[in-house]
Formats: sequence, structure tokens, C-alpha cells
Amino acid sequence: MVEKVWRRQQQGNTNTENKRFSHLKTIFRYPGAKGRYLNQILPFMHPATPKYHDVFVGGGSVMLAYACANPSSAISVNDLDSGIFAFWQILMEPDATIKKLFALIDQQPTVEQFVRLKHSTPETLVEKAYRIIFLNRCAFSGIVTSGPMGGYNQTGESKIDCRYNAEQIKYRILSIRKLLKDRLTVHNLHVADYLQTVCSNEVAYLDPPYYEKGRDLYPVHMQPNEHLQLSNILQNMNNWVLSYDAHAEIKRLYQGFSVISHLKTKYSIANASGKAPVALEYIITPKVEYKMNCISLVDIVLLPFYIIKYTAIGIWLGGKAARKALHAVFK
Ligand SMILES: C[S@@+](CC[C@H](N)C(=O)[O-])C[C@H]1O[C@@H](n2cnc3c(N)ncnc32)[C@H](O)[C@@H]1O
Repeated sequence: MVEKVWRRQQQGNTNTENKRFSHLKTIFRYPGAKGRYLNQILPFMHPATPKYHDVFVGGGSVMLAYACANPSSAISVNDLDSGIFAFWQILMEPDATIKKLFALIDQQPTVEQFVRLKHSTPETLVEKAYRIIFLNRCAFSGIVTSGPMGGYNQTGESKIDCRYNAEQIKYRILSIRKLLKDRLTVHNLHVADYLQTVCSNEVAYLDPPYYEKGRDLYPVHMQPNEHLQLSNILQNMNNWVLSYDAHAEIKRLYQGFSVISHLKTKYSIANASGKAPVALEYIITPKVEYKMNCISLVDIVLLPFYIIKYTAIGIWLGGKAARKALHAVFK
């Protein structure tokens, strides 16, 4: 399958892949990934802006959906994690580099490989990208700082390779590479530095590490002062959409901002009962939008007139009915 896609892309015959872009999935298992909430997040973003920015790209599920829906927008992604950065960066490398990566991906996962990679410090882009792919697909809940699926002695029900399908990973890499060809730029900056690159006619999506659980889920997370710094920077911008865990401190930081709605999400981490707990998330945007389904702002202004009008009609009808009744009794 991968061989066929690879050959077709090199021949420039990509009709089948183009159709599939509308269902393009990331290769990463990401705690808090937004793949399930695209319908709630994407409507807040202006379509076809010159450039879409994914400021905390991670697995990039929202970015992929935006890129599929808006083929003419340039795409810029950023992540402070050097492994995540390497994965997105390698997509723009020549075929020969991708083939080297695929040769590594073809290796069957083992616990020994897991231990070796977890404690290694890769040097080349290929090694960095492979390490993050391997650990993400083989670690418990996709948390690269945790142990392997099935445990170090593989006595658990799920084994280390139960989420590792080399063919599917390679196929998705080729499809994502094709989708983003000639329009992707990749950065490895702190959010505060990256946001300086966003122009006012572009759109930025931000999915920062969770305020509360961030340190348990991501090797790179943010301290309370960085969350505060982010909210201060966003005060001066008006072209962004932000998703966050529904924490009291986040509500406080963003109280001056407007549309806050709730997403029900799972952190993708099973608890002792084997179920991933459901948590609430906010979607925050800079603009106040009075979106009411039944009553509009105009209706609110006209409300006193409606009250007077319908009271008068009520009195008139009531009086009419009373007159009729009296007439019936006394005629
Ligand atoms: C919640 S995850 C993003 C998940 C992504 N939206 C998805 O659907 O897969 C947050 C990401 O922010 C990155 N990150 C953490 N601190 C950062 C910082 N200060 N600047 C930029 N990226 C950061 C982490 O490495 C992580 O990949």
C-alpha cells in the first residue's frame, strides 16, 4: 500500500490521496488531542486566511483539518519539544531522508528498543523523528515519559506493539507530506517568541499544555507564570482561538475575553478502572459575540414595546370577552 502511494506521488498522480485528505489523521496519540472536536473548534477560525498558525502543534489534528479544508492557506507550526519539531520538520526533507526514516519505522518494536530510545539523545533529524514516533506509539497512553504498553516485562493485556502499525504510520506520513508540500514552515520556539511572527491578517490556533495536568502529560509543559505571560500577549491580539482545560485560574486569566464554551474531552489516560476520565475544556476567542439562538440584541431593545403591545392586546381581548360574557348573562 505505502509503496503504491509513494510511487503515485512521485509520478504526480495523487487523486486518491486528495480525496483522503478530508479524513487525514495525525500519526500521534496525543493526550488532549483535539481530533474529536474539530466541528467545535474550526468554525471559530476564518477560512482561507493567508496563513494558519498552530502555535502548540503537538500531533496537529486541528492543523491537518484546517489544511485539508483550506488548500490555499500557508501553514506554520511550532512546538518547543525538539522531537515534535523534528517530526514536522522532516516532512519537508527530500525523499531519500524519508526513506531512511521508513527503514527505522519498519523495525518491530521491542522493550529493549523502547529502553534504548527512551534514554538516548538522538542527533540527526531522522533519529529524532523516529524516536518521537516510536515512543509515542509504544508508550502507555502516548505519554513519552511513561513506560511501554504492557509494562517492562510485557505481562499486561496490551503489548508494546499493539498501537504500532508501521504500514499505517508510513502511509499517514506520505499523505500528510503531500498535503503540506510547499506550504509548511516549522518552528521550535517558545510561544512568547513565536507569537511575534503572527501577522494581524492571519489566524492562530493555540492548544497549550493543560494548566493542571500539563506536567504529567508532556515532556515540555508550561509554568503558571508562562500561562500568565500567554494571556498577557493575547490581550493585544485579535486573531486567535484558544483551547484550555476548564481550570479556575484559566477562567480568571481570560475573564476579559469573550466566548467561552465547553468541550467535553478525555485526557486519553485510563484511570484505575480502565476508563479515561472526562474533563471540561474551554474554547476562548477574543471577540464578544452575542450569539443567542432565540432572542437577538434587537429583540432585547424592543422588549418593553413588546410588553406594552401584548399587555394592551390582552386587556382589549379580555375586555371584549368580559363584555360578551356580561351581555350573555344580562340579555
Ligand atoms: C496540548 S499539546 C498540543 C496538542 C495538539 N493540539 C494536538 O491536537 O495534538 C501542547 C504542546 O505544546 C508544546 N509546548 C509546551 N510548552 C510550550 C511552549 N512554551 N512553547 C511552545 N510549545 C510548547 C508541547 O510540547 C505540546 O506538544
